[in-house]
Amino acid sequence: MMKSSVEEKLKNTLPKDIAEGLEQALNYLPGGKTAKIEKPESEGLFNHILFITIAGDRYVFRARRDVSTEAGDAYMQYMYEATGFIQNGGSFKLRNIADEVDFLQRALAAGLPVPKLIHATEDWMLIEYVTGKTLCEFLEAGEVKFLPKILQEMNLAHRQGIIYADRWGGNEMIDDEGNVRMIDFDIEWFYQGGNDGTLEALEMAWTIFNAMRVTSRRDDLLKIVEIEVLPAIKAWGYDIAKMKKFIEGLCNFYLDPNKPSNAWSLPNSLYISMPEPANRLVAMFAEAN
Ligand SMILES: Nc1ncnc2c1ncn2[C@@H]1O[C@H](COP(=O)(O)OP(=O)(O)O)[C@@H](O)[C@H]1O
Ligand SMILES: [Mg+2]
Repeated sequence: MMKSSVEEKLKNTLPKDIAEGLEQALNYLPGGKTAKIEKPESEGLFNHILFITIAGDRYVFRARRDVSTEAGDAYMQYMYEATGFIQNGGSFKLRNIADEVDFLQRALAAGLPVPKLIHATEDWMLIEYVTGKTLCEFLEAGEVKFLPKILQEMNLAHRQGIIYADRWGGNEMIDDEGNVRMIDFDIEWFYQGGNDGTLEALEMAWTIFNAMRVTSRRDDLLKIVEIEVLPAIKAWGYDIAKMKKFIEGLCNFYLDPNKPSNAWSLPNSLYISMPEPANRLVAMFAEAN
């Protein structure tokens, strides 16, 4: 009785269907009745994420939030338009859990570093808990050295025709052994122009731009982009001209004071120092082309 009070409180804050899904997940796991349930430090707009600990083993419960995601949609639509992706025949959508599970299984079959799937229904999934921190956390703390490793891992996926999408730093992790692990595949990207490298260029551009955006050490990061990243992505055959356009578009979006924003977008004050490094980043890609 006493022991479950924290869990009871947490469950009471969850929507009914999510609490039911969690209950099913706990019933599925041996010892589930004794589980300790925690929320992550940061949660996005689209998912309920819960960490489940049973006798030292951890799992992640994941289900979609029941938001008619208008605010998120408007923000994302505006952002993707700013890159020129939409006007050129690109689009994106929020996957349902079943579609995300399909993606996860495809990525696992390709040997990519995504969480193992433990169990899933139409409405929720249980996945492996990944140790470590997100790339975003490292970048904010001034640790910029992991970017090339992340991009290399993306290239491995691209060679197998797999686009992770929405890699902005918060969905890429570095585990305790220093290995890259990718999480969160709720967004899918499409391109009607076929398989011409556009999605791959967008994915690389997205990651590089956001690394510049979030890090507390922009000079150090730009140096790494110039010396390590640009030569690598050229050698791998990415479309540098496309990447330059996407990065430019993202710069314009983030520096636009009139962009739609809401509680989960970052404060304007963070962007005051961005125009100069943003221009340098664009110039690098212009020259490399
Ligand atoms: N499998 C996992 N292992 C460890 N931590 C995770 C895992 N999945 C999510 N998290 C943590 O929870 C946060 C939010 O999860 P995420 O899957 O990115 O969903 P969303 O961004 O929609 O909230 C992540 O940034 C990460 O810190
Ligand atoms: Mg995420």
